Amino acid sequence: MRVVETFAAARALSGGSVGLVPTMGFLHEGHISLVRAAEHASDTAVVTLFVNPLQFEDQSDLDRYPRDIERDAALIEDAGADILVVPALHEMFPHYPTRPAVTVAVERITEGMEGEHRSGHFAGVATIVAKLFAGLRPDRAWFGRKDAQQFVVVSRLATDLSFPVTVTGGATVREADGLALSSRNVFLDHDDRVAAVSVSRGLFAAAAAAGEGERSADVLEGVVAAEIEAAGGAVDYVTLASASDCSALDSLDRSAFLAVAARVGQVRLIDNVWLEPDGSADRGIRLTGPSILYGGD
Ligand code: PAF
Repeated sequence: MRVVETFAAARALSGGSVGLVPTMGFLHEGHISLVRAAEHASDTAVVTLFVNPLQFEDQSDLDRYPRDIERDAALIEDAGADILVVPALHEMFPHYPTRPAVTVAVERITEGMEGEHRSGHFAGVATIVAKLFAGLRPDRAWFGRKDAQQFVVVSRLATDLSFPVTVTGGATVREADGLALSSRNVFLDHDDRVAAVSVSRGLFAAAAAAGEGERSADVLEGVVAAEIEAAGGAVDYVTLASASDCSALDSLDRSAFLAVAARVGQVRLIDNVWLEPDGSADRGIRLTGPSILYGGD
């Protein structure tokens, strides 16, 4: 695997079909599953590692975002990537410290959920992903479906701005007890880690209700919120959203995702299940062994 700092260097090393996995580092099996998929499906698998300041609302959240580039590079190489791009700040922001004059605005599909609770977040994501698409020219790019709204935003970015890239979603990867993997899970203390399972438990209970015929968004959302609140968590939102445009639904009458954001202790967790109108659900996949995030402890 080659480690480079510029898009030009990555392009010079790329041949054939290019598969891209953008990350902010501190990788877990969710990311690794995307790298493996890109490696399998592409001639050149490119992974980027950049903690994007544009998508953080406050400086303290950006400062405390976990980082460990050496560990990440080893995991990415093991997963079979050909190129790791760790862009220099000036590659991403040529006029740094001046903010970019041109950014990508995302309308409508970011009005609810994460877009409502984190102002500017998706403009920051879309701007950086547009730069990665333009600079690295991938044929295909992988994003985790745990970030459901981000996945819809990035898919629309590609079609609305005519980037010739196929955006592919990767299944949410979960701990054996159901907790969705996230780089932020390292901040959960023992008690919060126990309480955090209520998020996936609530989602799975709602998916089971959908499987038994429940279609009301209010009822499905209520099932999730009740589970989290009973465990002492604070719910930011639970929303049944259209899988195509993220609009809030009254009932499960089309492809959708049931998304939740909740605070457990100091940690804000997001998770979702994808639901079909026939009541079938995609809950993601569970790990059978120990997770690399916790070093197997
Ligand atoms: O999902 C992430 O890690 C980030 O939002 C992404 C897509 C790498 C853009 O910075």
